[in-house]
Amino acid sequence: MTRRIDIVEVGPRDGLQNDPGHLSTDQKLEFIARLEECGVARMESGSFVSPKAVPKMADSAEVFRGLTRRHNTRHIALALNEKGVRRAIDARADEINFVLVASEGFGLRNQGMTPQASADALAACADLVHEANTPLSATISVAFGDPYNGEVDPGVVANLAAQAQRAGVTEVGLGDTIGVATPWQVRALIERVRTEAPDVFLRLHFHDTRGAALANVYAAVEAGVDVIDASCGGIGGCPFAPAATGNVATEDVIYMLERAGFETGIDQGKMIETAKWLETALGHKVSSSLSKAGGFPG
Ligand code: COA
Ligand code: ZN
Repeated sequence: MTRRIDIVEVGPRDGLQNDPGHLSTDQKLEFIARLEECGVARMESGSFVSPKAVPKMADSAEVFRGLTRRHNTRHIALALNEKGVRRAIDARADEINFVLVASEGFGLRNQGMTPQASADALAACADLVHEANTPLSATISVAFGDPYNGEVDPGVVANLAAQAQRAGVTEVGLGDTIGVATPWQVRALIERVRTEAPDVFLRLHFHDTRGAALANVYAAVEAGVDVIDASCGGIGGCPFAPAATGNVATEDVIYMLERAGFETGIDQGKMIETAKWLETALGHKVSSSLSKAGGFPG
């Protein structure tokens, strides 16, 4: 049987939050509609954070209000605190993704929280999400390295995943926010997290800052992970991580996986077209390989 790998498209959130280009709310909705037409089944469509901290996400409530919901796409809202969770529930998010942080340097700058404070915040909000019958996932940011503190202790990551499991989270993402992971580190961290949080599904989130993102996707899939985050065109980055660059590009990931016989359910040609549309809308080139070279065998 063909193995299915689910791609979570993060372009409308992680992709746009730090891009020098600007999309209006209507353009964001067009981007999302185009991604739905590509066959994207799960998508980060916005974040409910402080508009002062991340001005590009200030219109997320309008974006969620404007969703046509014509397709069965699950629209994910990112939240980092109770206010964000409440706003995401009000916006009728199909899933809430809560951000935990694996290291203090980034955590204090990104969300004013230590790793344990982020886990406590999740525990305090989880009932709210469960009562709203909204699926709850979590992403552990800087799981492979912190821009301020350097190496991150895998034990801290595994412990956060275990706390997320206890809070009723069914899927935990391991986020390489600054693109420093290597494939061997990916395999080791997955094994470590599985021993301490055996009941959660894993999702892996890579940035291609140092060129290893596709190799890291390969390592994760080889280790049995079935869910990968990626962004159309490879746009993205975090305003609180110096020199952060984009996520691994969706079209490059689906090319690599589908050519190897995996199924993603996403139309590669349409994804390349969407990346090209994005170049015009944002007013600059995107970084993906397929937007330059096209697919193969054609
Ligand atoms: N949505 C909107 N506004 C929010 C908010 C939310 N989820 N949480 C807090 N605020 C507002 C408060 O109302 C307050 O507004 P005011 O200054 O007008 O009174 C202000 O933000 C500060 O609130 P406070 O509770 O003291 O939060 P903080 O300053 O410690 O900031 C975060 C915490 C999480 C809100 C903030 O760091 C943040 O939004 N970070 C975003 C990081 C991010 O998105 N990174 C990329 C993705 S991982
Ligand atoms: Zn990211």
